[in-house]
Amino acid sequence: MQQKVNSIKKSMSEQVLALAQQVVDFSGVDVEILPPEISQLASRPETFGDPRVLAYTTAKSTIAHILHRNPASDAMLRIVYPDTNGHPLTAGLDRFLSRSLSGQALRDRLTVCSAWLAEHFVKENKTIIDLGGGSGSYAFESLATKSPPSGFRWRVLDLDGESLQFCNDLIAVYDFQNVIETRQDNFMSTTSVDEKFDYAVLIGVLCGMDYNMAVSCLSRAKAHLKPGGEIYAATLLQRAFDEDPRTFRLLCNIGGWQLRPKHLPKVQQIFQDAGWEITSIMSERENGHGQYAIVHAVMPT
Ligand SMILES: C[S@@+](CC[C@H](N)C(=O)[O-])C[C@H]1O[C@@H](n2cnc3c(N)ncnc32)[C@H](O)[C@@H]1O
Repeated sequence: MQQKVNSIKKSMSEQVLALAQQVVDFSGVDVEILPPEISQLASRPETFGDPRVLAYTTAKSTIAHILHRNPASDAMLRIVYPDTNGHPLTAGLDRFLSRSLSGQALRDRLTVCSAWLAEHFVKENKTIIDLGGGSGSYAFESLATKSPPSGFRWRVLDLDGESLQFCNDLIAVYDFQNVIETRQDNFMSTTSVDEKFDYAVLIGVLCGMDYNMAVSCLSRAKAHLKPGGEIYAATLLQRAFDEDPRTFRLLCNIGGWQLRPKHLPKVQQIFQDAGWEITSIMSERENGHGQYAIVHAVMPT
């Protein structure tokens, strides 16, 4: 068992390891949700990454099960996004995770970003490329806010065929065949660039990347855009770990889930080093102090 724990610890990001140093109090979590022995194990720094916690969370939580199989999965978001008033999939541990400050931050991110996108990017004869767009949640939410103007197109580009299938099914349901399209490819590869777009969306993708990966991802994003193109990107801030360590302790205890929340100056540096000019930085919370940095930036011409 110790070998397994060590190998999990080895793969942890420094942010997750720092979280692991904290003693986190789970006493307020409903005991029906978290049995005392799991609560104690998950609380103590030395048992972070403990396979017994992993076994419990993946058995009891669909969210944890999904993330254990694929940490970058959009499927987890499909559970958390609609949970405003008792989604049938969220009971027990999922209910706790989904209703945490961090679950709420994800739903607020969807609402706030979609409203912004509807106002600023959903325009006549303009095109959007949604890099790592998953099942197109932001496309559908934005177009629920604003009907698609003439000549407008939104492409969802993702590696994950299952998410894209989900997106295609919704396209048919909402009759958006001429507005939303999907493409399965790696947005980092040259083969994925067959057209240049006006705007790029990059939400929930930089969250797991370190500085070098994030700079390379944002540099690559430019290849998908016309000269002077714009990007709208959201990434997790360190505040998320600081204000909601219980949720992240449980989530990061599921076998090496690699979140890399960043401080705001680091986010700014990443955009600048990738050659973007930041025009504004927003948050999913009205007071500006949320869990996500939401960045609008332009490509200098
Ligand atoms: C956490 S999900 C975010 C989905 C969506 N943007 C949202 O926030 O609702 C991350 C998505 O990025 C996709 N992804 C990650 N790296 C990618 C790459 N290099 N090329 C294409 N898709 C990628 C994953 O398959 C996954 O669907």
